Amino acid sequence: MRLPFWYGCAVSGLLQDRNYLVLGVANQRSIAWAAAKAIRAQGGCVALTYQAERLKGRLRKLSAELGDTPLIECDVSSDAAIARAMQELAERMPVLHGLVHSVAYAPAEDLQGSFVETTRAGFAAANDVSAYSLIAVGREARHLMTSGGAIVTMTYAGSQRVIPNYNVMGPAKASLESSVRYLAADLGPSDIRVNAVSAGPIHTVAARSIKDFAEMLTMMERHTPLRRNVTAEEVADAIVFLLSDLARAVTGEILHVDAGAHAVT
Ligand SMILES: NC(=O)c1ccc[n+]([C@@H]2O[C@H](COP(=O)([O-])OP(=O)(O)OC[C@H]3O[C@@H](n4cnc5c(N)ncnc54)[C@H](O)[C@@H]3O)[C@@H](O)[C@H]2O)c1
Repeated sequence: MRLPFWYGCAVSGLLQDRNYLVLGVANQRSIAWAAAKAIRAQGGCVALTYQAERLKGRLRKLSAELGDTPLIECDVSSDAAIARAMQELAERMPVLHGLVHSVAYAPAEDLQGSFVETTRAGFAAANDVSAYSLIAVGREARHLMTSGGAIVTMTYAGSQRVIPNYNVMGPAKASLESSVRYLAADLGPSDIRVNAVSAGPIHTVAARSIKDFAEMLTMMERHTPLRRNVTAEEVADAIVFLLSDLARAVTGEILHVDAGAHAVT
């Protein structure tokens, strides 16, 4: 049997000797963790942020797998915290080639029940942490991206369509996606690309706070063109693509990694 020309060729070294900041590793299930591992596998150096001191111990254990990895505290709801984090990062990575923004938050009570009951505080918090933070982080990080770079954030189909219980996160993700386009326009002349990956549902800490999330996974298995859910590793591969030179002409894009769900629902 003749084997295809690519048989046995593993893609590697796409991000060789480049520096990346990954925000949003909570544990080994986090999409950000899969992204960090995928970046390392492609030869990139990774720095990780954690939201608060209480999360540092777990991250230290996890990050040992990646080798020498700077761990930097960064609560993205604070401009001062973001500025401090970037200063600390600059000492370890004076030139940054990209970042992965994989951060979101909404109060649990706003991720169930009627959308019309969304609280003012819940709406503000969801938009602040899940959408505005991309702008705030991009604004600081661009100063380290002196040889161009790529920013990738994470979104979900609830930005475009009503998904039961996604509620307040829907408008927050819509705002995030719009911010991707505006940032792409602003930062493009500095050769900084800005894109988002719209992932299908994956069982993570953030996802578990959405009521009836397990039912969503089952429903997706029945309805997506590929008749399955996606994995964090599959999402991470798309993140690597967007960070890499393979995507050098791609910016302002929302790339779906959802087993085709967006095409049929
Ligand atoms: N899991 C899914 O089904 C799914 C699908 C599509 C998109 N996403 C998006 O992927 C991203 C990552 O989520 P995940 O599913 O890996 O869950 P996760 O819980 O592992 O990650 C969310 C991260 O956000 C961080 N975070 C929250 N508030 C913060 C703050 N103020 N400052 C700094 N960090 C803060 C948490 O510490 C955590 O590390 C989110 O944007 C989420 O909306 C998830």
